[in-house]
Amino acid sequence: MKFFVDTAEIKEIKELNDLGLLDGVTTNPSLILKSGRNIAEVTKEICDIVEGPVSAEVAATEYSEMMKEAAVLARIAPNICIKLPLTFDGLKACKALTSDGHKTNVTLCFSATQALLAAKAGATFISPFIGRLDDTGIDGLELIRDIRHIYDNYGYETEILAASIRTVNHVKDAALIGADVCTVPPATLKALVKHPLTDKGLEQFIADWAKTGQKIA
Ligand code: G3P
Repeated sequence: MKFFVDTAEIKEIKELNDLGLLDGVTTNPSLILKSGRNIAEVTKEICDIVEGPVSAEVAATEYSEMMKEAAVLARIAPNICIKLPLTFDGLKACKALTSDGHKTNVTLCFSATQALLAAKAGATFISPFIGRLDDTGIDGLELIRDIRHIYDNYGYETEILAASIRTVNHVKDAALIGADVCTVPPATLKALVKHPLTDKGLEQFIADWAKTGQKIA
């Protein structure tokens, strides 16, 4: 499973990228707002840090405006992935951009039929939002399961990018179901390594090692 980080915070991206565990980055207008940065500047900085795809989202809602914005975003760096909303205009732009050789990420997916449309439009990634569905009382992971099933039925190559991840268990369950990618907020990504028995065990090993008086040299 690939790990993307869902943020536009440069410090967090650098830190996670240095671990060697980062396969890409996703941003959206809310994350750009939170960063307080200019979209072109911050996106360029992210693309310089991370080798993998960096999703940058169009703000327009009408096809020709989306295409103009996509052209601007695509010029930022070769690893830009154009993020488009799951509307007919977004799907039309997805089809055109994919045909032109761009990577695309169709976002705000809340149903399996929406995901089917994105695959038909040639999306590189489909972003189903798990947490936001959970918030409404609908099981977000069930959507990932349905999309996996449908894509496998027809051999669609669109990658399932599980988004709106809120917990470590979301990541575990998305991996069990077979999502191709999880985009995870920095804090949740860091929490994946945590286990109290790891901490306790390490403490014990450190103490016992000190008692041996040895050095590995
Ligand atoms: O990238 C979009 C998605 O991950 C948003 O997550 O927590 O705002 O629902 P959230």
